Amino acid sequence: MESDVPSFPPGFVFGAATSAYQIEGGAAADGRGESIWDRFSHTPGRVHGGDTGDVAADHYHRYAEDIALMREIGLTAYRFSIAWPRIVPDGRGRVNAAGLDFYDRLVDGLLAAGITPFATLYHWDLPQPLQDAGGWADRRVVDAFTDYADVVSRRLGDRVDRWITVNEPWCISFLGHLTGEQAPGVRDLGTALRVAHHVLLAHGAAVPVLRANAGPTSQVGIVCNMTPGAAASDTEADRRAAERWDGFFNRWFVDPLAGRGYPSDMVALYGPLAPAVEPGDLERIATPVDFFGLNYYFRAVVSDDPDAPPLGLRSHEVPGATSTAMGWEVYPDGLRELLVRLHRDYGFAALYVTESGAAFEDRVDPDGIVRDPERLAYLRDHLAAARRAIDEGVPLGGFFVWSLLDNFEWAHGYAKRFGLIHVDYATQERRIKESGRWYAEIIHANSR
Ligand code: FCB
Repeated sequence: MESDVPSFPPGFVFGAATSAYQIEGGAAADGRGESIWDRFSHTPGRVHGGDTGDVAADHYHRYAEDIALMREIGLTAYRFSIAWPRIVPDGRGRVNAAGLDFYDRLVDGLLAAGITPFATLYHWDLPQPLQDAGGWADRRVVDAFTDYADVVSRRLGDRVDRWITVNEPWCISFLGHLTGEQAPGVRDLGTALRVAHHVLLAHGAAVPVLRANAGPTSQVGIVCNMTPGAAASDTEADRRAAERWDGFFNRWFVDPLAGRGYPSDMVALYGPLAPAVEPGDLERIATPVDFFGLNYYFRAVVSDDPDAPPLGLRSHEVPGATSTAMGWEVYPDGLRELLVRLHRDYGFAALYVTESGAAFEDRVDPDGIVRDPERLAYLRDHLAAARRAIDEGVPLGGFFVWSLLDNFEWAHGYAKRFGLIHVDYATQERRIKESGRWYAEIIHANSR
């Protein structure tokens, strides 16, 4: 193996990730119901350029071609999400058989290609009828989610044994219900905190259901995005601001998942807005998981700002830092730091990097090649950071690049491209980018 190719332990999973609304399209196909992202993207002014996921990368119809591309890259695993409104169009009750059939075909295709499916149950596409009934802010959503988890895992549990309950509780709660930049576009801290509590409860309620249906070899986990906070200066005030950032972004979710309950400093800060915790809730949220999935993109540099409620902090750009087309600082060592922290401080049985990747301005050169050296460097440096974490004793099982394909980047629409594979949205033509070819070499070199 060449010296600049990092070598990973045998069995290390090299994957790529996507989510249903971002790639599938087929919005009205085969009985799929409406989701909050259909509603949000069709509301003028919500998504860049008025883009919607109606067609996206048309993966719903092109999944076989996409599996062939995964195979060409040599992925050993593929993380995808299941669209709740395809399975239970009204959010509860009636099951849409055609929706289940789609994931059946996808899973069979993956297994035939020797690719391990990692299925995520919730990657943000809540059925709109549930939103109309109160959405994640209404505690009854927990039962609806558990029923949906049961339906899906009964059908796929004989073949899928890696399950993820929810993707990124922080984004669901705070981007969806505090800043309002994502669906359903609510702006209210108390609501966001209630949502967070119900998302965590739904996760905890679904874990035993998934285990029971997927059998003893199955592994069930959750995926959180974490953004470490660095103090902008050495002052006491800025250090405390960084602590608050950490409480807001990271500890509010990871602490209760790991059985520590909600962090008391943040409960005090939120005061009467902190969610109502019923007896048994914290035990349910802390139902042991088989793995914890970390999505990591960047860090935050923050200072104290008493004029910026509710957290009293402000984020800063780092002078001279390299950043991606999202404006996110490239800071690979943050990945190592978080992995080491998750292992040492929280003791999860196993960890995965369930998303890591970057958007840059890609173009197809006249010779048909997409040259994306910045993405390649980003992935190389983050894989190296993951490797360093393993050297420090972290039980890291695998690494998933975000994303397999260019796709609908939420409020940014199709303007931001994260894929290892370029998608020409006019023709749906796919082209493996140079970063994808590089990833293929890494996987190949590690398969010997
Ligand atoms: C994460 C999301 C994923 C994608 C990346 C860029 O927060 O899980 O769907 O949008 O960011």
